[in-house]
Amino acid sequence: KKRIAVMTSGGDAPGMNAAVRAVVRMTIAKGCESYAIYEGYEGMVKGGSLIKRMTWEDVRGWLSEGGTLIGTARCMEFRQRAGRLQGAKNLILNGIDALIICGGDGSLTGADLFRSEWSGLLEELVKTGELTAEQVEPYKYLAICGLVGSIDNDMTGTDATIGCYSSLTRICQAVDFIDATAYSHSRAFVVEVMGRHCGWLALMAGVSTGADFVFLPEKPPGDDWEQDMCRIISKHRGMGKRKTIVIVAEGATDNKLNPISAEHVKEILAGKLGLDTRITTLGHVQRGGNACAYDRMLATLQGVEAVDAILESTPETPSPVITINENKIGRKSLQESVKLTQDGAKCIANKDFEGAMKLRDREFEE
Ligand code: F6P
Repeated sequence: KKRIAVMTSGGDAPGMNAAVRAVVRMTIAKGCESYAIYEGYEGMVKGGSLIKRMTWEDVRGWLSEGGTLIGTARCMEFRQRAGRLQGAKNLILNGIDALIICGGDGSLTGADLFRSEWSGLLEELVKTGELTAEQVEPYKYLAICGLVGSIDNDMTGTDATIGCYSSLTRICQAVDFIDATAYSHSRAFVVEVMGRHCGWLALMAGVSTGADFVFLPEKPPGDDWEQDMCRIISKHRGMGKRKTIVIVAEGATDNKLNPISAEHVKEILAGKLGLDTRITTLGHVQRGGNACAYDRMLATLQGVEAVDAILESTPETPSPVITINENKIGRKSLQESVKLTQDGAKCIANKDFEGAMKLRDREFEE
C-alpha cells in the first residue's frame, strides 16, 4: 500500500487547495494512504504534527478556496543538504514513499534534487545511526511528481500553471474598477502587476483590459520607448479616449536591463503629456481570493493525473511534471521543464530576449 504525501510550496496560488483535494481523494480512491505535509518543505524538515494523515472528509469544501490551507513556505533549510537529510528521515519515519509537490519552478527544482540525492541521503542516515538499515530498506526509491502551482505562469512546457487564470481574472477586475475612476477624471493610471521575471500576467491583462501600453520583461521596449509610449497614448487620446491605462510587469526592464518603474512611467505621462496620473500597485490582492473555474478544473484534472503518474512510476522513469498543452493534460520530464525555465531566465539576464522566447515555445524531446 503506497503512502502518498502532498504538499504545497513557494508562493500560494488559487487552485492549490483544489489540487490537494484531488490528490488526497484520488490517493484514497486508489486504495493508498494519503498524507499532507503542512508548511511546505519546512514541514518536511520539522516533521512531527506537520505531517498528517488525510481522510476524504478533511478536504471537503477545498475546491474553490484561495491560498493553500495546508500552508506553504519559502524554506531556506531545505536548500541545505542537512535540511534534506532531516526531510528524508521524516518521510521514512512516516512511511511515506511518494511525494506530490505543487509549487513553482524553485520548489520543483528542490524536489528533483531531493529525488536524485535520495539513496545518498539514506546511506548517510544509516551511517550516522539516525536510522537502521532495516528501517530504510523498504524506501530504496522515492517517487516524485510535480504540479505547477504559481500565479506567474512561468514554467516552460505547460500552457497554464495552477493559479494564473484566477490571478489574471483578479487583475482584470481591478483594472475594470480603475477604468471607472480613470474615465471619470480623464486620468492616466500606471498599474503594476506581479509575475516576477515573467510577463504573462501583464501581457494578458493588457490584452484583456485594452490597456494603452504594456511593459514586459521578455520584450523590453526600444531606446526611444518614452517617445513611443507618448505617441501612442496621444493618438488614443486624440481618438477621444478619456482614460489611459499602462500596465507594468514587476520584472519589466528597458533593453539595458534597467528596471522600468511605475514611478518613472508616471513622471513621463505627467511631464510630457500633462496627464493627471496615479499609480496602483495591485500587490497580493492578485494572489488571493477564490480559484476561478479554470483553475479548479485544471488543478483537479492534474491532481488526478499526478496520482496516476506516481502509481506508474518506477526507479527508471524520470520524475514527471503534470502539464496542459492544447487542452490536454499530460506529463513531461520535471528536470527538463525546470532546466528550460531556468535557461530562459538566463537568456533574459544575458539580454538574449529572442532566445528566451524560443525556449519558452520549444517542443520537448520525448
Ligand atoms: O511567484 C508568485 C509571486 O506572487 C510573484 O509574482 C511575486 O514576485 C512574488 O511571488 C512575491 O513574493 P512574496 O509573496 O514572497 O512577497
